[in-house]
Amino acid sequence: MTRVNVELKAVDPDPKATAARCEALGAAPAGTLEQRDAYFHARRGRLKLRSQGEGSELIAYRRADDAEATESVYVRVPVPEPALLTAALDAALGSVVVVVKRRRLFTWEGVRIHLDEVTGLGSFIEFEAVLPEAGDPATAREKLAYLRAQLGIEDGALVSSSYADLLLDGPQALLRAASEVMPNAYAPYSEFKVGAAVRGASGGIYVGANVENAAYPQGQCAEASALGALVAAGETAITGAAVVAERLEHCPPCGGCRQRLNEFGGPDTPVYLGRPGTEPLTVTLGELLPGSFGREALGEGAAVRRRRKYPS
Ligand code: THU
Repeated sequence: MTRVNVELKAVDPDPKATAARCEALGAAPAGTLEQRDAYFHARRGRLKLRSQGEGSELIAYRRADDAEATESVYVRVPVPEPALLTAALDAALGSVVVVVKRRRLFTWEGVRIHLDEVTGLGSFIEFEAVLPEAGDPATAREKLAYLRAQLGIEDGALVSSSYADLLLDGPQALLRAASEVMPNAYAPYSEFKVGAAVRGASGGIYVGANVENAAYPQGQCAEASALGALVAAGETAITGAAVVAERLEHCPPCGGCRQRLNEFGGPDTPVYLGRPGTEPLTVTLGELLPGSFGREALGEGAAVRRRRKYPS
């Protein structure tokens, strides 16, 4: 059966206080759920296999990415063999991302209130007015507006993207990419494996690992390898980078790599240091390399030549 929801999502800096406010509003606590959503490539909308406790279901849905309350249309199918279905969907369609969260659930006048702790993303609050239980669409929207006001959710906290997109677009995507390439590092001399990922201005992610050499000074850092892949793909600007090392939780880029990254980024470009699934240490290129020697130091002539050849 096709169902319709009206939804709203926001960052929640203080889930404990929000839970207390929900109870004060008369929302009924309905337990805590551990959910794992595996997303697969889909022709239209989204397709995810949700596992929760003992049960699993396949959910196909469409939703406009809009921070204001949006409607989503979905179909849910119970799945008795989740492992087999995962294998079949992965083989036929390909996997996109897995979202793992702990969801504290409240219900209020047909509205489900979710207090979500999402692995790698942080805390969020979500309202889901299920139609027709929450009334007609206009009534459902009024209910969400009322809850929003009662819980003091400001415009700046509203989130329009799905958790899946946030994971794919945010620091976690870069950390994951860096972490996945890290085992391929060729580091027989230092035994210090490093993986790096940079996001090009197009949104594409490029990865690299360190490559050592028996003639030690010929070794190349992971960041340099990743930037080589960026340039090889025809890109010349980065909007973010991540560095993951096997034996160090936060591996700061070496001096030379700060200079290399700086060539393609700006002072505000974030560099994420850490491991996927944990809050990274975030530093900007400006912090890593204050007072840097950049292309502007070469004068207007060099800047013009670069812009002519590599407009970013
Ligand atoms: N390394 C990197 O790949 N990136 C850095 O920013 C720090 C150091 C590598 C170089 C060498 O292969 C190993 O780590 C030990 O220095």
